[in-house]
Amino acid sequence: MTLLRVENVSKRFGGITANQDVSFALGAGQIVGLIGPNGAGKTTMFNCIAGYSPPTSGEILLEGVKISGLNPEQCARAGVARTFQIARTFTSMTALENVMVGAFLLNRNVTQARHSAARLLHFVNLGQFQDKPAASMTISEQRRLAVARALAIQPKLLLMDEVMAGLNPTEVKETVEVVLKIREKGISCLVVEHVLEGIMPIADAIVVLDYGQKIAEGKPADVSNDPKVIAAYLGDE
Ligand SMILES: Nc1ncnc2c1ncn2[C@@H]1O[C@H](COP(=O)(O)OP(=O)(O)OP(=O)(O)O)[C@@H](O)[C@H]1O
Ligand SMILES: [Mg+2]
Repeated sequence: MTLLRVENVSKRFGGITANQDVSFALGAGQIVGLIGPNGAGKTTMFNCIAGYSPPTSGEILLEGVKISGLNPEQCARAGVARTFQIARTFTSMTALENVMVGAFLLNRNVTQARHSAARLLHFVNLGQFQDKPAASMTISEQRRLAVARALAIQPKLLLMDEVMAGLNPTEVKETVEVVLKIREKGISCLVVEHVLEGIMPIADAIVVLDYGQKIAEGKPADVSNDPKVIAAYLGDE
């Protein structure tokens, strides 16, 4: 079953075309990697899907229902959660309180929000930080904290923007394990990532953007051997 359908989405900022006529689909329970060089339009696509900045043209559908044009809160209620490329951690709050912020979208009951936040902290392997200030956490832990906060809205689709950037190999492995656990729960993941050794082994499919356009799509092994993809990444070096 198709969960997300991006249809001919273009996004322009004045003279800059950040996404040009991009189409792809993501099936329920899938992990799809959205990759491409710096400035390719990956975060712009996330902003379109999650309602932060609507497409200039084209449509985005979740379970066949149009969500493009909705605001971020409406997209979240429809089932789209996201993390941000620059982690938005509330550093003076505890890890638990950070996740409760997400839980409050669904439920204003403090006790219930606290319970679901505690459960999610354990799920992302951060249970030991529950009452510690988020400022005491490493970047890797703060990224997983952001994942827990996004999961608190009980999404159907989770958009993760570079949750593995700058992590050491052990931290990448820990993060990959969490992404796999999320899929096991039946939540689909669209993962923007430059850390290809993190996303390639776990993705059901890869979509490649370059200068705003989709240049390749398919199984990770096929995409990584595609001359257009190799050329785009070499150009980036
Ligand atoms: N709000 C904006 N106003 C003007 N231009 C923008 C805006 N947001 C993005 N852009 C431009 O759109 C293009 C795509 O940017 P985007 O952030 O989506 O790329 P990205 O693939 O996420 O890159 P990175 O890998 O570096 O995060 C870039 O040229 C960027 O400068
Ligand atoms: Mg980006």
